[in-house]
Amino acid sequence: MFFKIALGVLFCSIALAAGETYEGYKIYDVNANNAFEKEVLLRLSANDNYDFFDLPKIADKPARVMVQPEDQVDFETTLNRFGLSYTVINENVAQSIAEETEQMNYARAAVDTNGRISFASFQRFDAINAYLDELAKAYPSRVIVKTLGKSYEKRDMKTITITNGDGKTNKKVILMDAGIHAREWIAPAGALYVIHQLVENYSQNAHLLKDYDWVILPVVNPDGYEYTHTSSRMWRKTRQPVTSSCVGTDANRNFDFHWGEVGASSLSCADTFKGKTAFSEPETQLLRDLMLSLSGRAKFYLTLHSYGNYLLYPWGYTSAYPDNVKDLDEVAQAGASAIRSSTGTRYTVGSSTNVLYAAAGGSDDYALAKANIPIAICMELPAGGSGFDPKPAQIEPFVTETWTGIKAMAEKVIAKF
Ligand code: ARG
Ligand code: ZN
Repeated sequence: MFFKIALGVLFCSIALAAGETYEGYKIYDVNANNAFEKEVLLRLSANDNYDFFDLPKIADKPARVMVQPEDQVDFETTLNRFGLSYTVINENVAQSIAEETEQMNYARAAVDTNGRISFASFQRFDAINAYLDELAKAYPSRVIVKTLGKSYEKRDMKTITITNGDGKTNKKVILMDAGIHAREWIAPAGALYVIHQLVENYSQNAHLLKDYDWVILPVVNPDGYEYTHTSSRMWRKTRQPVTSSCVGTDANRNFDFHWGEVGASSLSCADTFKGKTAFSEPETQLLRDLMLSLSGRAKFYLTLHSYGNYLLYPWGYTSAYPDNVKDLDEVAQAGASAIRSSTGTRYTVGSSTNVLYAAAGGSDDYALAKANIPIAICMELPAGGSGFDPKPAQIEPFVTETWTGIKAMAEKVIAKF
């Protein structure tokens, strides 16, 4: 026993650097049926050994938590002691990751022949950048690809600007990003599908580009994204080391607006670590600068995450509502009802703090408060598998459904401003 603990402490950083196999990790759905049980969950979520995938405020949704083998007895004992009911929805995360890898390899082999982006598997970062460059080459009058700068590990962070090619400058802008959290793979896929629609299916979508340009950053956190492909599937943060044993900052807690006030951790190993300082990460600096450079022109900032089917608007730092809550709600509702009537999928609409949880330092709050982008929405795409791991075959239905919602929100914004 002592041996195991000593080893754990000694090799903590090495284990982190080498990634995680998730052997024996379990995922639990926990029901909280009253205020007391919700409070129990909230306290458990402060324990960094428990990885809360989802901790909804609304009554009928269970919380979902991943727990490593050595903490499972404690975890279950606590739930039993306080009378919270739970089910184990994944008995061994390593197993489902292995299945995912196998399916992706199969899907890749089956489709990747024409050089076009495919929605049959999740794409690696290089393939995403290559797709952007390829579009710029194929559609030079309507597409511009720019490199904002480099991530901590020196990956090129590229935006694609999509226009209708009429040459007018200074149009209003819809700014979109995805992949600020590494493991939320369906989000960059969603952004790629929007790019595909606006560029390669232009004739159907020309009305979305008449008075607006779209600027899209499909992967805000490329280092983390690649790390989830190569080493540790459930990684969330950036990859800049913080201490000798802890790596990464939660990029969506790193923006300088009520930074660190609530829902963010000061512990550098924690999954929601707010960062050493606000904007400690090159990736959040680049996104900030992009927002500020479009301030005035940008009317709509949309950031794609997963999962949980939410359309969230500010504030994330307080339960109070912004002055323009009516507009925000109207746009988000338009997205939710378009999706509802196309596929029947339900999205929950509301302010982050009121329908999900309070968390300061998010990019959406910053967009509204500091970059003066009046409509800022965080869209949490659906869960697949045990949450972050939709099967490759689910990508296409998810991203087409998401596009229906995004299109409806864009149409609402365009009509409004
Ligand atoms: N799941 C997202 C996160 O934890 C929600 C962010 C909502 N926005 C906010 N400012 N809290 O980052
Ligand atoms: Zn996220």
